[in-house]
Amino acid sequence: MLVKMKWTLILVTLFLNDVFSYKILVAFPYPGKSHSILGEGFVKHLLNGGHEVTYITPIPIKKPHPNLRQIDVSSNFENFVFTNSLSFQKFLDNEVDFKDMHTMYRLMLTVAEKGVTHENVQKFIMDPNEQFDLVIAEWLYQHLYSGFATVFNCPYVWSSSMEPHPMVLGLIDEIGNPAYFADHMSPLTPPLSFSERVSELWTVFYLYRIKWAVQDLEVEAYEKGFGPAVAKRGLRLPAFEEVKYNASAMFGNSHVSLGEAHRVPLNYVPIAGYHINEQTQPLPENLQKIMDNAPNGVIYFSMGTMMPSKTMPMELKRAFLDMFSSLKYTVIWKLEEEFKDIPKNVHVVQWAPQPSILAHPNCKLFISHGGLLSTTETVHYGVPIIGVPLFADQFINVLRAIRKGFALQVDLGFDTPAKLKVAIGEILGDPKYTNKVKELSYIYHNRINKPGDEINWWVKHVIETRGAVHLRSPALHVPIYQKLYLDLIALVLLVLVVVIRMLKKLISGKNETKQKKH
Ligand SMILES: *[C@@H]1O[C@H](CO)[C@@H](O)[C@H](O)[C@H]1NC(C)=O
Repeated sequence: MLVKMKWTLILVTLFLNDVFSYKILVAFPYPGKSHSILGEGFVKHLLNGGHEVTYITPIPIKKPHPNLRQIDVSSNFENFVFTNSLSFQKFLDNEVDFKDMHTMYRLMLTVAEKGVTHENVQKFIMDPNEQFDLVIAEWLYQHLYSGFATVFNCPYVWSSSMEPHPMVLGLIDEIGNPAYFADHMSPLTPPLSFSERVSELWTVFYLYRIKWAVQDLEVEAYEKGFGPAVAKRGLRLPAFEEVKYNASAMFGNSHVSLGEAHRVPLNYVPIAGYHINEQTQPLPENLQKIMDNAPNGVIYFSMGTMMPSKTMPMELKRAFLDMFSSLKYTVIWKLEEEFKDIPKNVHVVQWAPQPSILAHPNCKLFISHGGLLSTTETVHYGVPIIGVPLFADQFINVLRAIRKGFALQVDLGFDTPAKLKVAIGEILGDPKYTNKVKELSYIYHNRINKPGDEINWWVKHVIETRGAVHLRSPALHVPIYQKLYLDLIALVLLVLVVVIRMLKKLISGKNETKQKKH
């Protein structure tokens, strides 16, 4: 009897799984390798969850799953001249400035607009037969991709690629109190001193000013990009303000082991590490051999995907090789080019299966640009890092890792190899760095749900509750003057003024009558 019931249960579950396969749009048109890795993470988990996925991407997956359809926006790479022209030389010459947030916001909006107005995307959204149950939209200093949910008249979930910070939390809750919630690009961390608190408050104003400055451009891009498709379906185009604050939830590429214990609303879902395969892929044979046979362990050196290491000046590459040759460790360097006269203990590879290298027990150290995916992977696999940050959030990621106690930083310059040698001696000479990263790795892995299960649970929950309206933060639509009770303060002041005036009148009136009596 019991056995029979069990079987029925299994059958019912299988049946339900089939029924609850939803159509999901993963909107990640932003032309960047690491953003595509994050987009692919969603695609992979959703396909595992049995859903039908449409993926807007500049880097289509080769040999896609039968339930995956891709909208190719690879030609957007050409539009994004900035990434094409990045080189080490420019960094060495201090030609790249990424700290100016205004430029950043504008740049990201322009790029996002190109993604939406791309002919393949337009063709896709102009087809009224296309239907979706849910959109996952990437937030990257712009809110444009939320417009896909308007076209398909379905709920959407944000994907935020960084630690939770005021700009994204403001979309689903509130920006957070700057007294203990530093901006994502701020080098400060609580507890803040008086001047630091003032500086964080100033940043809030500064970011609001930028937001207001690009607001109209964003609305324009929204109307131009989505207006025709919405009209074709006979729907009304809602105001962009209504759309961008209407997310059902937010998936955050963050976890407390990597950042701060920020207070977040119920519908913020931390899923850092979801882009990493649960099963580590085996290493290619040659790398497996090198790593197995490294007598003193392996140092893995990779500067990421956005800026090819081959653009590094020859002089600098040589200096790196000379320095590495003086080490007792085996070095694997991802350099994207053939190289001659390489020291015995150095192996130059054009492509590196980073997770599999970091997962090898002989991997002792990762020398990295400090991109968020890389710093996440180091904690995932428990390997300390030396960061050589170049731009954007890399400085902050490295700083965070240093604060956590498992990293050192070396700045980029012609003296990097020499400084790096000292840092390697320090980080591998003292076990505290490795111990710390192992400890964080435990916290990182010790979660109730794996990130992939989390994604699939939330996707289903949002769809089945038609937008999870019950989880929306009540703080979202409360204006700042009400939160600070400025209206009450104004009322109290008003009453005080009136009372004082009345008292004054009363007293002077009494005095007058007194004088008359005399
Ligand atoms: C906001 O989301 C809810 C739930 O998904 C939906 O019913 C509503 O139409 C959306 N509003 C706008 C303006 O998009």
